[in-house]
Amino acid sequence: MATVEQVYEALRGVMDPELGRNIVDLGMVRDVEVKGDRVRFTMALTTLACPLKDRMVADAKKALLALEGVRDVDVKLTEMSAEEKARLAGGTSQREGSAEALNRIDHVVAVMSGKGGVGKSLVSGLLAVALRRAGYRVGVLDADVTGPSIPKMFFPDGARPGATPVAILPAESRTGIEVMSINLLLEREDEAVIWRGPLISNAIRQFWGDVLWGVLDYLVVDLPPGTSDAALTVMQTLPLSGVVLVTSPQGLAGMIVRKAARMAERLEVPILGLVENMSYFVCPETGTRYDIFGPSHAAELAAQFDIPFLGRLPIDPKITELCDEGHIEDYPAEEFKPIAEVIARTAPAAKPPAHPLRTQQSRRGK
Ligand SMILES: Nc1ncnc2c1ncn2[C@@H]1O[C@H](COP(=O)(O)OP(=O)(O)OP(=O)(O)O)[C@@H](O)[C@H]1O
Ligand SMILES: [Mg+2]
Repeated sequence: MATVEQVYEALRGVMDPELGRNIVDLGMVRDVEVKGDRVRFTMALTTLACPLKDRMVADAKKALLALEGVRDVDVKLTEMSAEEKARLAGGTSQREGSAEALNRIDHVVAVMSGKGGVGKSLVSGLLAVALRRAGYRVGVLDADVTGPSIPKMFFPDGARPGATPVAILPAESRTGIEVMSINLLLEREDEAVIWRGPLISNAIRQFWGDVLWGVLDYLVVDLPPGTSDAALTVMQTLPLSGVVLVTSPQGLAGMIVRKAARMAERLEVPILGLVENMSYFVCPETGTRYDIFGPSHAAELAAQFDIPFLGRLPIDPKITELCDEGHIEDYPAEEFKPIAEVIARTAPAAKPPAHPLRTQQSRRGK
C-alpha cells in the first residue's frame, strides 16, 4: 500500500501549466486518503472552468498509478475560496514553499489553565471531538512538549506522523482529526523530553510552521499547565482566535483564573470562556447529582472577570478509561456539546498576535 507521503511526493511532479508550479506547493491537494490499492484526493482549482483541469487530473492519475500498490485513483474537483485565490495570486508573506504558506486555518483555539491536572487536555480532546462531530475540519496541536497527553487519547495503537520533503504531516485519528505532538516523533512514547524553554518554543513553532495541516476550520492547541514559556510562545506566535480557560472546583480557583486571565489580557488574546471540569458527580445507580467539592463558584468567578461561563463537566470514570485507551472519540460527551457549540460560534477568525515574540524582543529598550 502506498503511503500518504508517497502520494504527496508523486503529486509534486504534477504541474499547473498556467501557474508554473506543482499542485502540492500551490496548495491544491486536499483530503488525501489511501485505502488498500485505492487513492482518493481532492484537487482545488482556481476555477472549475479551468481549461487545463482534465490534463492536470490525467497527470495526477498517471503519477499515482505509477506508485507501487496503487491501482485506482479517484480525483474530486473543488474550487478554491476567494481568499485562497487571492493568496495564490498575490503571493504570501509567509515563508515561500513552507508548510505554513500552504495551510489555511480559520480558527485557532488554545486551552489553558493556571494549574496542572485540571483537565485541559481532556477539554482540548473533547472540543476537537465535538467540533469534528459537528462536521468541521479539526486539528489538535499538542503544545505540552514535556508532558504530551493528546496522542494517547486518540490513538489506541500509537501513531506516526508522515513527512514530505518540506513538511511534517499530522497523524489522523479514526474520525479524521489531525494530531501533532512531540510524542508522535519519539521512538518510545514514555521517553522523557528534558528540554528547556527555547527548545520547547522552537518545537511549538515548528508544529505550527512546518506541519502541513492543510485546510482546517479549527485548530485546538493544548497548552501545558500554568503561564509558562510554552503558553507565552503560543500566545505570541500563533494567530489565536482566543483561549478557553479550564478550572476545577478545588481551591485557589480564583487566583488561578486571575493569573491566566491577566496574561491573556496583557497579550490581547480574547478569552472565549471558562469551563469548570470535575465539577460534580452523578451516581450511575441513582442518578443523584453530588457536588463533591461543595457548590460551584465558577459562574460567579467568570462574572467577576467578565468572561463567559461556558459550563461544567462532571467527574466521569468512563472518560478516564476511554482517554487512557485511545478511544476519546467514542465518548458521548453530551455535557460538552453545548460548550463546543458556543466556542465554535463565538471564536473570531484567527488573527496574528498583537504582541509577537520577535517584535517585542527587537523593540526592547525602546
Ligand atoms: N471530568 C473528568 N472525569 C474523570 N476523569 C477526568 C476528568 N477530567 C480529567 N480527568 C482525568 O484526570 C487526569 C488529568 O486530566 P488532563 O490530563 O486532561 O489534565 P491537564 O490539565 O491536561 O493536566 P496537565 O496539567 O498535566 O497537562 C486524566 O487522567 C484525565 O483522564
Ligand atoms: Mg495536559
